[in-house]
Amino acid sequence: MGKEFKRHLITSALPYANGPVHIGHLAGVYVPADIYARFLRLKGEDVLFIGGSDEHGVPITIKAKKEGCTPQDVVDKYHKIIKDSFQELGISFDIYSRTSSATHHKTAAAFFKKLYDEGKFVEKESEQFFDVEANTFLADRYIVGTCPKCGAEGAYGDQCEKCGSTLSPDELINPKSVISGGELVKKPTKHWYLPLDQYEGWLKEWILEGHKEWKTNVYGQCKSWIDGGLQPRAVSRDLDWGVPVPVEGAEGKVLYVWFDAPIGYISNTIELLPDEWEKWWKSEDTKMVHFIGKDNIVFHCIVFPSMLKAYGDGFILPENVPANEFLNLEGDKISTSRNWAVWLHEYLVDFPGKQDVLRYVLCANAPETKDNDFTWKDFQTRNNSELVAIYGNFVNRAVVLTHKYFEGKVPAVGALADVDKEVLAEIPQIKASLEHNLSTYKFREALKDAMNLARLGNKYLTETEPWKLAKTDMERVATILNISLQLCANLAVAFEPFLPFSSAKLVNMLNLAKIGWNEFGGSEILAAGHQLNPAELLFAKIEDAEIQAQIDKLNATKAANEAAAAEAAGTPAPLPQKEECTFDDFMKMDIRTATVLEAVKVPKTDKLLKLTIDTGIDTRTIVSGIAEHYTPEEMVGKQICILANLAPRKIKGIESKGMILMAKDESGRMKFVTPAEAVDNGACVG
Ligand code: 2FM
Ligand code: ZN
Repeated sequence: MGKEFKRHLITSALPYANGPVHIGHLAGVYVPADIYARFLRLKGEDVLFIGGSDEHGVPITIKAKKEGCTPQDVVDKYHKIIKDSFQELGISFDIYSRTSSATHHKTAAAFFKKLYDEGKFVEKESEQFFDVEANTFLADRYIVGTCPKCGAEGAYGDQCEKCGSTLSPDELINPKSVISGGELVKKPTKHWYLPLDQYEGWLKEWILEGHKEWKTNVYGQCKSWIDGGLQPRAVSRDLDWGVPVPVEGAEGKVLYVWFDAPIGYISNTIELLPDEWEKWWKSEDTKMVHFIGKDNIVFHCIVFPSMLKAYGDGFILPENVPANEFLNLEGDKISTSRNWAVWLHEYLVDFPGKQDVLRYVLCANAPETKDNDFTWKDFQTRNNSELVAIYGNFVNRAVVLTHKYFEGKVPAVGALADVDKEVLAEIPQIKASLEHNLSTYKFREALKDAMNLARLGNKYLTETEPWKLAKTDMERVATILNISLQLCANLAVAFEPFLPFSSAKLVNMLNLAKIGWNEFGGSEILAAGHQLNPAELLFAKIEDAEIQAQIDKLNATKAANEAAAAEAAGTPAPLPQKEECTFDDFMKMDIRTATVLEAVKVPKTDKLLKLTIDTGIDTRTIVSGIAEHYTPEEMVGKQICILANLAPRKIKGIESKGMILMAKDESGRMKFVTPAEAVDNGACVG
């Protein structure tokens, strides 16, 4: 039996406010954290769920430079998008604040100052890259060069995005400044380091001995860091965006983003509860759990705990850090820079009212023990074959039948048959399993438990067939429907942490205000005679066309990325194939040979030529955007192909009847499509 805690402090990684959040963030961090928070609140626990945007760090300054605005503009924009979209998805933070807030700056600076005053840092001068032209030291991300591992150009000073290797700027071949593009020199600069090596023994005992129950992926990563020997880590940077180092002589230096970001959990608590925050952070009765992705493990299991340990003063440490692995998208790594993602704010527009579908799919497919893949087909299948066909279908049958046979009033239960007893006995068993899985961060398993309850309901109705008994045995029908409705009430509470919107809908359909966790497992949640509200569908089928639209969107991104990569490499990619057309579509086009009789430039335009064409059936005018490729003189006398039955259009006031067929390659060059040998004008092509 584990320790009993009086309250639960749940933190979720503060997302960088340099872009919106995507399904990878959600599956890895926010959906599980929200499920956990909702579950504990439902059980009546005292819960504080902290979120916020991480608004410092070099990527934000790079983005600002690219977009020609200030870092504050960047974070203002994305903080709003992120905050609003989280809220719409039902992520139930008690506070969602930001690290550019005054409270955070004050808290983080004071945290640093205390450690500094107590001599907990080591000061070191080291040689760092300096951009002479821009007169500034450069963070690793500001330095690009050739990757020493794979030879890719444009590798960053901290990582090569092509091969994924972690790098240091010294390893780059031919390092250059991102800011000025110029050469770099090395100059000495002073920074403060947290001497993690001094915490090694303590970390070994606290994690490797004391937290063997942590998830294998988390424990394993901690072990390999600790066994590999910990090095002092710089907690300051030469940068002009962040929390200024609160020490004399530290002008132009800010706290390293990974030093200040986790302090954001504390400052957000202070912002929300200025008088009570210490009870959440400095009491052994508080259970703190950090929800993060696997790339954040070292900071939350090693660096931040060492900071808290160094600070002392009663700060508690996390009881658990159930970090998830990564979610891929259609087989490829999710990438913000390549726009390979399903963005939450776009999903919410494309699938209005379907928050629970995304929450369901991301939990059912969460990368809890290994990287997983999100595909739009799987999304559709899980909606149509699980949410609609199992959960939604069962609830609908139970409520509709009650309206049909009992005017929507919960019928009284009669004598119980074996099948009834079996079903009723299973509910508390499912509850026990679900509760155990939620308490041990096995959210996928817990969700399966909830769905098994719905499966149980469907099987029960299929076996007992109350609609067949309606003519002969209404007492039996009453019992079956009573039990089915009790199952519905149990489903509403079982699914509440996962699918809060649908549970609210179901609770409303059952005409209840709320169903408590303590009622879950019971068979008397709804009293006989209780009036239900009209039946409503909990979920709707998602059609192929909606899924295809999403797949098309991703294909367009892929094509754009390939074209950009090919262009960067000097070999433009072939243009992507257009959407399929039918034979009939093609046969509608009247393509013919024709000859250009006259050609003149359209005045005040660069691209347009006005052509007089002999089509074999008439002489007509076609305006064509080819003036940058052909002079009027080159055109006259050419035999070409035209689309003759294109609806006439006015271009620059001239009526154009038809279109000249041109072959256009990936780099935009255009050539005529001409018959291989001369033929009569008006010959049909097809
Ligand atoms: O990886 C990230 O997105 C970081 N912004 C997470 C920070 S978590 C915490 F320390 F704030
Ligand atoms: Zn590389």
